[in-house]
Amino acid sequence: MEIQTALLTGSESEADRRFHQALAASGLTPETFSLFSELVWSFYRVHGRPMAWRETRDPYRILVSEVMLQQTQVNRVKEKYQEFIEAFPTFEVLAAAPLSAVLDQWQGLGYNRRAVALHRAAGIVASDWGGLLREDPADLVTLPGIGKATAASIAAFAFNNPTVFIETNIRRVFIHCFCADRDGVTDREILPLVERTLDRKNPREWYYALMDYGTFIAANHPNPNRKSAHYTKQSRFEGSDRQVRGRILRLLGTGPASSDHLIGELGEDPNRVGRLLLSLRAEGFLEIEGDMIRIRS
Ligand code: ADE
Repeated sequence: MEIQTALLTGSESEADRRFHQALAASGLTPETFSLFSELVWSFYRVHGRPMAWRETRDPYRILVSEVMLQQTQVNRVKEKYQEFIEAFPTFEVLAAAPLSAVLDQWQGLGYNRRAVALHRAAGIVASDWGGLLREDPADLVTLPGIGKATAASIAAFAFNNPTVFIETNIRRVFIHCFCADRDGVTDREILPLVERTLDRKNPREWYYALMDYGTFIAANHPNPNRKSAHYTKQSRFEGSDRQVRGRILRLLGTGPASSDHLIGELGEDPNRVGRLLLSLRAEGFLEIEGDMIRIRS
């Protein structure tokens, strides 16, 4: 499957053609990998996207951006990132801020538990790590909210370490380019290709390039990630538990409230509100004392 040539310059579509021809004729040879690399770089030279978090090497800023980008679209993160960094410019400032202020700034990004985890992670870096983020993904995964892929991406973007990882756009590039004729592709199959093609001299930019190319493929093709064994369609947000949880936290951001008050304000089924309050408490967002509910500080 070749990419839509009309949107590409002559040299990019030529790179695309040469790569696909080599793959079809000779399979996974060094020549094919080198043509793949040319294809991705040629795309990035023309279409690479500027993003504030790509212009900094500050590990704090990069960690914040990667946590935001885990589950939120780039354009939405662009709107919120700058303000968040201005409000909380360092691990120390973030750690010292009340959780309610952090949740307030997080509004619009969704999946609020990430903000709680980020606040806790800042506390650990500020007090246990002397304010310095560590480079080793094995250390980074010990922080709340930082999984294996995020730890590896932080190591690559903040420290230019040649870590190997997959996220949705990277997965899309490899499926589109190497597995276009198959379904049920697993990350286990893709990882060796990510490793084999990684630009070890410049992993930071190589991953930017892969991500941008994956975004281009998403916009111009039926979603190749449907071929991934890891693909799940995102549930609709409107009316979802996730949305109501966000509304509860926003209401409590203005001060403690009783459950009756919350039920009235939300206009939702009391059983549903009760269930969501209990899960928010179990996840560490809330404290319930008597009938009063408040955001945990
Ligand atoms: N640039 C750096 N990190 C990124 C990410 N997670 N998604 C898109 N672009 C990025």
